Amino acid sequence: MAVYAVTGAASGMGKASADRLRAAGHRVIGIDLKDTEIVADLSTPQGRSEAVRATLDRADGRLDGAVLAAGLGPTPGKEKLIAQVNLLGVIDLLVGWRPALAAAGNSKVVVFGSNSATTTPGVPNSAVKAFLAGDTDKGVARAGRIPASGPAFTYAASKIAVTRWVRRTAVTPRWAGSGIRMNVLAPGAISTPLLDAQLESPLKRAVESFPVPVGGFGQAEQIAQWVEFMLSPAADFMAGSVVVVDGGTEAYFRPDDWPVRVPFRAIPGYLRKMRSFAR
Ligand code: NAI
Repeated sequence: MAVYAVTGAASGMGKASADRLRAAGHRVIGIDLKDTEIVADLSTPQGRSEAVRATLDRADGRLDGAVLAAGLGPTPGKEKLIAQVNLLGVIDLLVGWRPALAAAGNSKVVVFGSNSATTTPGVPNSAVKAFLAGDTDKGVARAGRIPASGPAFTYAASKIAVTRWVRRTAVTPRWAGSGIRMNVLAPGAISTPLLDAQLESPLKRAVESFPVPVGGFGQAEQIAQWVEFMLSPAADFMAGSVVVVDGGTEAYFRPDDWPVRVPFRAIPGYLRKMRSFAR
């Protein structure tokens, strides 16, 4: 039996993941605004530190894994909350939990990104940069320069930033070198209360007309299977990867954008990184 912390455990994909892990015999410490083991508001510094402390208490300082699914969609008027929960609600918790993840010796982390990170055209780079620098207010202001696109840009920028944070962090000695395998799961349109809310908002037409080559929407239980897999020994040799599960939307829009060719001018940087790599 393993012990997993799951944020967003009261709804949608977080709940489906928690249910699946419990059904497999594991112990789940859920964190959400209600209806789970630890009730904490991840949009505030106090809520995040309380979530860290209460989780470590319940887990006795040792976590086999964590699933960071709490998040908000691109809801107008909630831009600040989007940044706080989608970004700081991941980073602050993981930084606080790192010693417990390292204590397990072989732990796994799954962070929920989104295919919005790579399918939303025009997200201001300055917003992503501000988020990565920890300045959520500035990031929200930059993402909101074109007011009509503010919620979509804030959402996408929060997911780009959290994905980049995972990729940069996962491969460092403090994480990969401490037996922690951290990766991103990037879903497309998945039937959950979050998507239902978008379908009842002015975004309805945009969501319905977004191309999904395999058709329809994904189901939370399908994503929960990917979460379980990414927490399993199958992920022992995986760090900083982004697994896109989106019915083909991302490939439809960007078939040739990945794999990205490495230009010759990158060679000096590669050599520097090779030399500084600590074995
Ligand atoms: P959901 O709305 O069903 O569940 C999200 C959970 O996060 C809720 O239980 C909510 O209470 C919790 N949460 C929100 N704010 C919180 C706060 N301040 N403190 C603590 N908990 C809070 O959403 P869903 O769809 O299951 O989303 C899970 C993750 O997947 C999110 O990060 C979302 O951005 C991402 N995602 C969702 C997609 C979709 O189509 N449903 C597509 C791509 C990514």
